[in-house]
Amino acid sequence: MKEHILNILKQADGYVSGEDMSRRLNISRSAVWKHISRLRDEGYNISSVTNKGYRLNESDIISESEIKSYLNTLFIGKKIIYTEETDSTNNDAKRNSALPEGTVFTSEIQTGGKGRRGKVWTSPKGVGAWFSILLKPDITPEIVSRITLIAGLAVCRGIGTDSMIKYPNDTVIGTKKVSGILTELSAETDAVNYVICGIGINVNTESFDDELKNRATSLYIETGKKHDRCKIIARVLNEFEKLYIEFLNNGLKNIIQEYKNNCVTLNNNVSVVYNNLTIQGKCVDITDKGTIIINDGHKDIEINSGEVSVRGIYGYV
Ligand code: BTN
Repeated sequence: MKEHILNILKQADGYVSGEDMSRRLNISRSAVWKHISRLRDEGYNISSVTNKGYRLNESDIISESEIKSYLNTLFIGKKIIYTEETDSTNNDAKRNSALPEGTVFTSEIQTGGKGRRGKVWTSPKGVGAWFSILLKPDITPEIVSRITLIAGLAVCRGIGTDSMIKYPNDTVIGTKKVSGILTELSAETDAVNYVICGIGINVNTESFDDELKNRATSLYIETGKKHDRCKIIARVLNEFEKLYIEFLNNGLKNIIQEYKNNCVTLNNNVSVVYNNLTIQGKCVDITDKGTIIINDGHKDIEINSGEVSVRGIYGYV
């Protein structure tokens, strides 16, 4: 119900009376007031004036209600666990792995954000979309890395803005990275217990430190305007669910062409670090097993996304 109240307030041009909302939603005025208090507890700045009602003032916060107000999914994000601060939303998902499939964990700030291959993912307060999706697919562990590819495509679809995928799942705009994904797995020999797909998107970051500024960017830097982080999270979740259902039913075969169309790595010269070896060559294909085919000038080499770091020969992309 509070999502409906939030929507009414967002669409209103000024104040909306408690009476109006109670009539439209068929609830009592005191119920309206209770939901307004909950929204305020979540961080929304809502003014109230006697005889006029309530007005939503500009607020840039991550909130469960607002993400849900943009969702059109069946099970992804039906449950959202929000914390003001966490070490890592992937760790939150791990600690709560008994919750249902599709539960999403998100936070304003991560104090121990984790990147791929043990790197740190810088996750400052109030500017990013840091979230993790808990999944329980009935698949074998070897093919879990394919979920990472569809998450990359979901981010690309969700943020638009000329974004492209750098294999396997970074999202780049031009030559700089705007989003990264860390997929973590708990499995037995032949069965998956759960998969955590952790997505970080630099949304409203105004600048990066010297170490990152040559290879990182944000939607704000690229477009010159601030973006609604809840809307971005919801759009990615909406796209992710469609792709995930398709993947569970048919694998990557109906998805891979769109992935390839949006992949900057394909047909480029790359340097791939794989099993402590560096292979240089041209990326000639990405298969519907989610593997990358590199031609080193002599032969085609097929490599799984799980363990690779792919770099353009002339820079990050
Ligand atoms: C990478 O490109 O190295 C992966 C970055 C993944 C960052 C996200 S932010 C949400 C989730 N929580 C984490 O600690 N990491 C992932």
